[in-house]
Amino acid sequence: MQVLIIGSGYVGLVAAAGFADSGHRVIGVDVDASKVEKLQKGISPIYEPGLDELLQKYQASGSLRFTLDLNEGIANTDAAFICVGTPQGEDGSADLQYVLSVAKEIGKAMALRPKDAPPLIIVDKSTVPVGTAARVHATIAAQTDRAFEVVSNPEFLREGCAIDDFLFPDRVVIGCRTDFAESIMKGLYEKKLAAAQARNSEAGKWFRMDPPSSELTKYAANAMLALRISFINEIANLCETVGADIDFVKAGIGSDHRIGKYFLNPGPGFGGSCFPKDLQALLKVGRENGHPLMTLATTVEANRHQKQVLALKVREYFDCKPGTPAPLAGKRFALWGLAFKAHTDDIREAMALELIESLTSLGAQMVVHDFEAMPAVRAKIGDRVIYAEDPLIACEGADALIIATEWPQYQKTDLQRVASKLKGKVMFDGRNLFRPEAMKQLGWTYHSIGRLPVLA
Ligand SMILES: NC(=O)c1ccc[n+]([C@@H]2O[C@H](COP(=O)([O-])OP(=O)(O)OC[C@H]3O[C@@H](n4cnc5c(N)ncnc54)[C@H](O)[C@@H]3O)[C@@H](O)[C@H]2O)c1
Repeated sequence: MQVLIIGSGYVGLVAAAGFADSGHRVIGVDVDASKVEKLQKGISPIYEPGLDELLQKYQASGSLRFTLDLNEGIANTDAAFICVGTPQGEDGSADLQYVLSVAKEIGKAMALRPKDAPPLIIVDKSTVPVGTAARVHATIAAQTDRAFEVVSNPEFLREGCAIDDFLFPDRVVIGCRTDFAESIMKGLYEKKLAAAQARNSEAGKWFRMDPPSSELTKYAANAMLALRISFINEIANLCETVGADIDFVKAGIGSDHRIGKYFLNPGPGFGGSCFPKDLQALLKVGRENGHPLMTLATTVEANRHQKQVLALKVREYFDCKPGTPAPLAGKRFALWGLAFKAHTDDIREAMALELIESLTSLGAQMVVHDFEAMPAVRAKIGDRVIYAEDPLIACEGADALIIATEWPQYQKTDLQRVASKLKGKVMFDGRNLFRPEAMKQLGWTYHSIGRLPVLA
């Protein structure tokens, strides 16, 4: 089959590479000329493990190419995927301007299709609120009399393991109205579903539903995951106060099959390109429809608090008195991890950025390190912080080490060498990478989330 993927970001690139991997002919489109130029040279504009190899492999074989021109290939295309951003609008709702502008462009390009061509399947893969498939349909219909159907196919990949998630999906959700649309979508995904089932009989599930249900499924999934994170974060904070240990509590509740063990890791609050904006968009949909989503509102509020927890621990330890100007002046902190999570260079809504803002505004100097996200942070905040090419260099002369992202390399770093660089053995670990008892034996003052602090 031939597929057009419009939008070459985290989702579009993974989908383009993933469909090429299933033997389809793929044309990737983007409006960003520098991105397309890089891609045509075989260079990925984003960091995603395994992506470069697939992009290079299928561009070399001729089954994948990138262009700025959406008209290219539309005449023979079976499905056109809309994978552009849906950022948060000023009122919290999903800003659909990019989706609808692509819909209009597709509508115009439809004139290039023969009058007797089978209906073009236009797929909303961007995360969009209920009713968007209908809006996309109306936008295209205003431009063309050629046959088409709009399908909702939300994406569930996780940055950092996006290739694996796309090649071996837990499930594929399709919101469509006709058997024809379903058959095209099945043709595109059948190899992936089979591969996922071969690996795990519980995976590779196919769900056909109506477009509104499919659109809501994506938001409900993200909301449920965010809710679990905020819940365990609140329980972790309570653990610290009552003298309990979140690791034990987590193991105790996660072994209940009704609860499950996933997404129960306490941390410094969730960020990223999806949860924060998708929660706001769903809250807006709830309000507009007279169903305020109260659990979700609380989830957002709890996360706002959680994103301050590490900074609060630092302020408390260094005895920052309220009302003192620049109470952290003269203090230097090493910060490990800038991306919103490990294995990505994505810093959208990253907790580390809020931490930098909090501590530098109190006068602290920050020396930061990340394995992939430093260029993005440098582009965003410039020389507000010092950038260290190596985690150990970041620690030189620092009063404490703060960990914001769970890159596994940090966990493997030799703590004695880290201690030799720091002024004192003080660590604020937002990802619970180490056990408090072990840190105590090594003589660290160790603060983590949901366990009692260890004081050297
Ligand atoms: N990133 C994720 O982990 C993830 C996971 C699931 C779903 N989603 C959803 O997928 C969508 C895309 O997310 P992303 O992270 O890939 O975004 P992104 O910002 O990385 O990429 C969007 C791309 O679309 C391009 N674009 C914008 N207007 C265009 C146009 N008119 N024609 C062609 N290209 C255009 C941009 O230049 C950019 O390269 C969003 O709705 C997001 O919520 C993202």
